[in-house]
Amino acid sequence: MSVTVQTKRVTVPEIRAAKHGKPVVCLTCYHAHTARLLDSHVDLMLVGDSLGNVMHGLETTIPVTLEMMIMAGRAVMRGSSHALVVVDMPFGSYEESPQIAFRHAVQVMKETGCQAVKMEGGARIAETVHYLTQRGIPVMSHIGLTPQSFNVMGGFKTQGRTEAEWPAIEADAKAVSDAGAFAVVLEGMAEPLAAKITRQIPIPTIGIGASAECDGQILVMEDMLGLNPNPPKFVRQYAQLGPEIEAAVKNYAADVRARAFPGKENVYPMKRAV
Ligand code: KIV
Repeated sequence: MSVTVQTKRVTVPEIRAAKHGKPVVCLTCYHAHTARLLDSHVDLMLVGDSLGNVMHGLETTIPVTLEMMIMAGRAVMRGSSHALVVVDMPFGSYEESPQIAFRHAVQVMKETGCQAVKMEGGARIAETVHYLTQRGIPVMSHIGLTPQSFNVMGGFKTQGRTEAEWPAIEADAKAVSDAGAFAVVLEGMAEPLAAKITRQIPIPTIGIGASAECDGQILVMEDMLGLNPNPPKFVRQYAQLGPEIEAAVKNYAADVRARAFPGKENVYPMKRAV
């Protein structure tokens, strides 16, 4: 029996091969309608656990659950057919052991249909990255500023500001690359260090607040669209949708209050009796 595959998405090997090709275009995405809009313009959509901040108004990503990630992952998969979709493993779902990480990553992949997962951490989770990739789960790593370690770091701080910090961060990059990660996010990292790591490791580096020399870039979509009133300083905004939405809602409210809104009979005309 042959099965026809309807969609041709960007693949994990294609992203890995981008180390020597065009920069990898990535954005976060959490819902179906925006997934549809981004799909043909990006190589990779990340269902990031930043949805805790963006969608749920949480202060950190620490309370984000597997169920929240799976629900958003399903929506993004339904809304897209081209980009590679990666779903973040939330805090507490992968740190305990490679076996527990595997079980949760399998759940994410089966229930969403996504092609890969992302996990924060370098050398400390390299064994887990290896365990998963050996068992059919592509892993994107994430080092530098890792928001799930908010309490350990005592806030969100740029990593690698002093050269004394560099060897440990370089070792993290090498550890996840050697363990089989297909790409690594470098977040909130001193520019020369991110550029150095990009030259050192054989997998693509995806920068966010890191360096233009990374092999690709990612931003939180709502930040670059102007929907976040307090975006991080490094974010370049490509639209100001926040004020546009507010203006539209203001006009709508004025129409409703002026009874200038079409009645139901205009939208759903009554059927004529035959
Ligand atoms: O959760 C997220 O959106 C991320 C990106 C910022 C890389 O991890």
